[in-house]
Amino acid sequence: MSEVPQPPHRRRAHTSTRDLARYAGLFAERTTVMRSSAMRDLMAITARAEVISLAGGLPDTSTFPAQSFAAQMTRIAQESVAEALQYGPTEGFEETKDCILEVMAAEGMLPDPEDVIVTTGGQQAIDLVCKTLVDRGDVVICEAPTYPGAVPVFCSYQADVIQIECDDDGMRVEQLEILLGELCREGRRPKFVYTVPTFQNPAGVTMSLERRQRLVELARAHEMLVVEDNPYGLLRYGGEPLPSLYQLDGGDFVIYLGTFSKILSPGIRLGWAVAPPPVMEKIIIGKQAVDLCTSTLTQYFVREYFAEGRWRRYVEDLVEIYRSRRDVMLAALEEHFPAEATWTEPQGGLFIWATLPEYIDTGDLLAKALRTDVAFVPGQAAYIDERGRNSMRLNFSGVDEDEIREGIRRIGRVIAEQVDLYGALTGDRPQAPAGGAEDTGGIGSRPNPATSMSDSPETDSVVLPFRRTGEGAA
Ligand SMILES: Cc1ncc(COP(=O)(O)O)c(C=O)c1O
Repeated sequence: MSEVPQPPHRRRAHTSTRDLARYAGLFAERTTVMRSSAMRDLMAITARAEVISLAGGLPDTSTFPAQSFAAQMTRIAQESVAEALQYGPTEGFEETKDCILEVMAAEGMLPDPEDVIVTTGGQQAIDLVCKTLVDRGDVVICEAPTYPGAVPVFCSYQADVIQIECDDDGMRVEQLEILLGELCREGRRPKFVYTVPTFQNPAGVTMSLERRQRLVELARAHEMLVVEDNPYGLLRYGGEPLPSLYQLDGGDFVIYLGTFSKILSPGIRLGWAVAPPPVMEKIIIGKQAVDLCTSTLTQYFVREYFAEGRWRRYVEDLVEIYRSRRDVMLAALEEHFPAEATWTEPQGGLFIWATLPEYIDTGDLLAKALRTDVAFVPGQAAYIDERGRNSMRLNFSGVDEDEIREGIRRIGRVIAEQVDLYGALTGDRPQAPAGGAEDTGGIGSRPNPATSMSDSPETDSVVLPFRRTGEGAA
């Protein structure tokens, strides 16, 4: 047999200026405003075994029982290998939708299966919603801070993104109301409000019932869509569940997004969207163009897994583990972070949001922290504009308790160096006010009823968030 000639292996050197010039004229206009995902960039660095990563939103997949996985995959191999290796319907298998309905029922929701589409992760669902609804320059409203993974999506669709401040009760809906009035006067209709109302990524805060009700009322009054992204609702470590926006609205103006990533596995890349029929029709067409269908194999896996009937037990196991890790992180923050720092105390989800004195830039701090082999997400990744520079997102699900303690200790040490440096340079070592940090009325701040503007009726005293104009959100 004659040998087939093999093409030579090529390992490309880094892109040169000449390369860039060669391709520059070919790039679509949207690439000029596309943003790289901070978490994805960090993952390349944090993959090193010696790095303690508090950066990603990684669930602890080592907790999934290997025998159970082997049994499910064996059953697929024995009973349905041909189907599991075949293409499937764009909207997903009915059996996968049954599993989704079970998950949603666990949070009190009962959508029509016809309104559900299976997606390649919750991330694709965000992308498909934007693909369906957003033209260049359209207004999209989201929280400040917002899910860092949504920022690159909004940017790539060239949305004009406006962020509404959060406090410990989630998005400040009274600010949204003012903004909607302003936009209305300008003749601009926002395409949707994107929110993670429960155990928010990145801040860990949960929107109060009053704000949920008001948001749904506003959506109805303005005939505006709300995109409720809820990967974390079942990961609750304390407090009582609140109705979802989808439940409060009944599914007319709320598009609901879910995922199996945090309650089972992100590696299977299975999420979903629930939308009113006219919107769903367009989402399905949009998905056909993207990937034809979501992985059939992983849909079969989920079907087998749910058939065993112990998915809720597994979520309960995760809740126990993550509650304890959250508590360890909170205690470590108390021990190692300076008195000037504040942080949220989430009742669920995977993240704590910490805010440092204003003179500390967490982007610079990350570079220093990485030299000591620890990582976090700098706050700016959660904003379209320049805000968030002195904040950071800390994940407590992806590493064990000892690593959390050690990781926070190392970050605390680099912060202390910055604080000392600031003191040496200015001769003005900042003093923590009595009772801890300065109260800004923001996220994780100490409550101060005298100054808090939360739900304040004095709307004219509320400063509107920074607005981008022109070409969209670079
Ligand atoms: C709020 C939010 N939406 C969507 C996603 C994407 O999840 P998936 O892994 O299902 O794509 C994440 C992941 O961290 C998230 O936190």
